[in-house]
Amino acid sequence: YKRITVKSLVDMKTNGEKISMLTAYDYTMAKILDKAGLDVLLVGDSASNVMAGHETTLPITLDQMIYHASAVVRAIDRCLVVVDLPFGSYQSDPKEALRSAIRIMKESGAHSIKLEGGKEIKESIKRILNAGIPVMGHLGLTPQSIYKFGTYTVRAKEEQEAEKLIEDALMLEKIGCFAIVLEKVPAALAKKVAESISIPVIGIGAGNGVDGQVLVTHDMIGMTHEFNPRFLRRYLDLFADMTGAFKSYVDDVKSGDFPNDKEQY
Ligand code: KIV
Ligand code: NA
Repeated sequence: YKRITVKSLVDMKTNGEKISMLTAYDYTMAKILDKAGLDVLLVGDSASNVMAGHETTLPITLDQMIYHASAVVRAIDRCLVVVDLPFGSYQSDPKEALRSAIRIMKESGAHSIKLEGGKEIKESIKRILNAGIPVMGHLGLTPQSIYKFGTYTVRAKEEQEAEKLIEDALMLEKIGCFAIVLEKVPAALAKKVAESISIPVIGIGAGNGVDGQVLVTHDMIGMTHEFNPRFLRRYLDLFADMTGAFKSYVDDVKSGDFPNDKEQY
């Protein structure tokens, strides 16, 4: 695939090729991710935590999401870019949802949007799809509803919640979503969902029976270090490496070692 489209992702599922997705919020990181061969970049509302230091994803605004998304879009040659609709930009009614989705598409140049929830937001998703905007669903742990649940623990362990999740996934496929993120649900349930629908299911903390995986980039490269869920595999320990580099710089400046004769004009 020279350039990933929503169609490529469905083809990947059909061909049994797993989909790789990570978050990106800025130009420089997006450039590296695109060059590394990622399939999908998610401009997640996790930017609220990772970029801005908020405790939840709720405070980030639509304008801020558009700022992050446009920086990411400027960096990519290959990846499909998905942008989260932030809390408060789609829950009131379908027209508001469509207006927000249109702003993201027009002002950032992104290729698709994602929003959290099932049948509660069905009409909003349909409205957005009708405008020709590809939509990725998000079920299971939905961080924008954190105050309803109170914790970030595993979702859909009870049968009733698991049944609703399956119904929601079938509905999202039926109305025309191109993929679904499943966050922090039992692996067996996630596998069942992935086998029940023909659109890709991309998991985070949802086991290996799904069609692709997503993580927050800053977590998987170890820039953050206070967040340690079981599903997180760390590929680097950048918190330690970067702290070391910054300390060396401080030492070199203080000692007068930097800059040396060759590092000046
Ligand atoms: O905002 C985000 O980073 C997400 C992923 C965790 C799926 O929605
Ligand atoms: Na998100």
